[in-house]
Amino acid sequence: MSSATTAARQTTWLITGASRGIGLELVRQLLASPSNTVIAACRTPSTASALAALKDTAKGTLHVVQLDMADFESIRVLPGVLARILGGQGLDYLINNAGILKGDTPLTLDADVLLETLRTNTVGPALLTAACAPLLDAGARKTVLNVSSGLGSIAGADKVPGTGPRAVASYSMSKAALNMFTYKLKMEKPEWVAITLAPGWVKTDLGGADAALEVADSVKGILKVVMEATVADSGKYLRWDGEVLPW
Ligand SMILES: NC(=O)c1ccc[n+]([C@@H]2O[C@H](COP(=O)([O-])OP(=O)(O)OC[C@H]3O[C@@H](n4cnc5c(N)ncnc54)[C@H](OP(=O)(O)O)[C@@H]3O)[C@@H](O)[C@H]2O)c1
Repeated sequence: MSSATTAARQTTWLITGASRGIGLELVRQLLASPSNTVIAACRTPSTASALAALKDTAKGTLHVVQLDMADFESIRVLPGVLARILGGQGLDYLINNAGILKGDTPLTLDADVLLETLRTNTVGPALLTAACAPLLDAGARKTVLNVSSGLGSIAGADKVPGTGPRAVASYSMSKAALNMFTYKLKMEKPEWVAITLAPGWVKTDLGGADAALEVADSVKGILKVVMEATVADSGKYLRWDGEVLPW
């Protein structure tokens, strides 16, 4: 069987921030199915050893590509790399997962931290989505999942401290903006499925060891949500278990 024939049967995924945490687990769970081709993007492939090791047990196909979400040139050149991997097939799912969190408050935030956070968590995902638009148009699922946070909810902000490092002002602003980007995307592309999703408080480097959820459980929920989503769900702000969140 030619590789082109094999590729035609595959569901294709691009996951950012795949070196560790939620991104790594998304890749791991997707590779359990032989019908998935997963393009795992990470900042430094040479040090992403846990990601590379997934190849040993993968039933699906793994491709690792370099992508720094804060480096717009790296985003601009990626579609060429993707097109060579996909060999004429479209991209079914884009999961904008990579993100950073630095603790600050509205009145202590540092301009450089705010800009770096917006660059990584908001501008990068927006530019990557735009860069991948022709590939998504050619895909069967046309689905963009933006990994946001409950901290991006203004309606839910009173549950979060207003002072101290846990106020995470820059981070929350970046995720609220990502939420709005998602809604605007749904309006521009009604034939796509654009979802912004909070993965819960998850045990990763970012979430910390005290977090409520195991990464495998959050990711299982995320994949169920994204794979079951239809255009009727586009523009929704969802939790990892499918519950609708207030903006
Ligand atoms: N964990 C939680 O409780 C929680 C809650 C709400 C939302 N989230 C969101 O879930 C997503 C994943 O978080 P996580 O918990 O898995 O965090 P994590 O364990 O800290 O992993 C973050 C991932 O993002 C990558 N990354 C950071 N900056 C990047 C850049 N400029 N370019 C490319 N990759 C970059 C990291 O790559 P390197 O290894 O190269 O640094 C890493 O792969 C984030 O968007 C986060 O905001 C997490």
